Amino acid sequence: MSALFEPLTLRELTFPNRAWMPPMCQYSAPDEGPDTGVAGDWHLAHQAARAVGGAGLIITEATAVNPEGRISPADLGLWNDRQQDGLARVVAFLRAHGSVPGIQLAHAGRKASTERPWRGGAPIAPDEPYGWRPVAPSPLPFTADGPVPAELTREQIGRIVEDFAAAARRALAAGFQVAEIHGAHGYLLHEFVSPHANRRTDEYGGSFENRIRLSLEVVDAVRAVWPDELPVFYRISATDWLSENPQDGREGWTVPDSVRLAKELLAHGVDLLDVSSGGIAPDARITAGPGYQVPFAAQIKAETDVPVAAVGEITEPRQAEEIIASGQADAVLVGRELLRDPFWPNRAARVLGAEPTWPDQYHRAV
Ligand code: FNR
Repeated sequence: MSALFEPLTLRELTFPNRAWMPPMCQYSAPDEGPDTGVAGDWHLAHQAARAVGGAGLIITEATAVNPEGRISPADLGLWNDRQQDGLARVVAFLRAHGSVPGIQLAHAGRKASTERPWRGGAPIAPDEPYGWRPVAPSPLPFTADGPVPAELTREQIGRIVEDFAAAARRALAAGFQVAEIHGAHGYLLHEFVSPHANRRTDEYGGSFENRIRLSLEVVDAVRAVWPDELPVFYRISATDWLSENPQDGREGWTVPDSVRLAKELLAHGVDLLDVSSGGIAPDARITAGPGYQVPFAAQIKAETDVPVAAVGEITEPRQAEEIIASGQADAVLVGRELLRDPFWPNRAARVLGAEPTWPDQYHRAV
């Protein structure tokens, strides 16, 4: 029996397997006009292929809760009815084909207003077409020569919390069954928790309790609108790769900080931690390699009992199986390998002696 293909139940939602697709921005929504931020044919085709391929959960890319929270002008958004309707079409397909639909609700903070990666990814200045001034906990640019973000006022912070709740309400109406809050990769919530990006002196900065305040407020706001029977996930950067790197030593967020935050998140109704890392500093030295973030997930799980998903260079069926079977994580997220091969879960099922879930139309492929 394959551990990877054992169902998993969180709250009252059962995932058919533990081979999941993480959020991956497609930068393919219209960047102007009434369909700004609306999911279209590309998003449907992209996710539909992975549903047919057998992914147990598909998490829609970072979806901005307000216009300033987009990484690029071509990001998905979820602040109006058209955006909700566009996503509902994608969700209906996923549910009809046995994949649980999830969505990552996001605010890009100081890393907002950039070009699509294949156009170079550079910041778009506020006075350029399609650009705007990013906001952040403190007026510190992400790159030395990058734009200085505007420091958020407490009123603006309060509105962002409301925007997360409103987007969660829309996500639910669109049919999503998992809401993931993006607390990783140097975007807004991560900027607040990390001493590297947060120099505030009010109740949102300074002590650990103050720096995690916004994360907990967002979790509470999302939990208040998300049904008790459905799970909320939180994506964390387990380490900034700064103070934990002897060759760096700048003050940053650490794995022990993550363990501490995980306990708080659990107490506030988060059901699973999606454990990634990095993203707060462009020059942090990250040691990547196969499964390189799995030990972070395993440590958080061991020290807190929070269910966790592992992500990062998980590409081989037997590698994924071992991560689950050894108890290091409850699920794996397969990113780039699922871009290369949308049928990865069904291929893994064959390798591991589990039953692939081909749709009726493909019955002769079995
Ligand atoms: C990503 N990643 C990412 N992460 C996230 O939290 N929100 C997002 O929207 C995106 N967008 C995104 C786009 C693309 C094209 C890639 C390749 C990656 C990170 C992703 O979810 C995952 O954590 C990493 O890709 C590491 O896993 P793999 O690719 O090594 O399996």
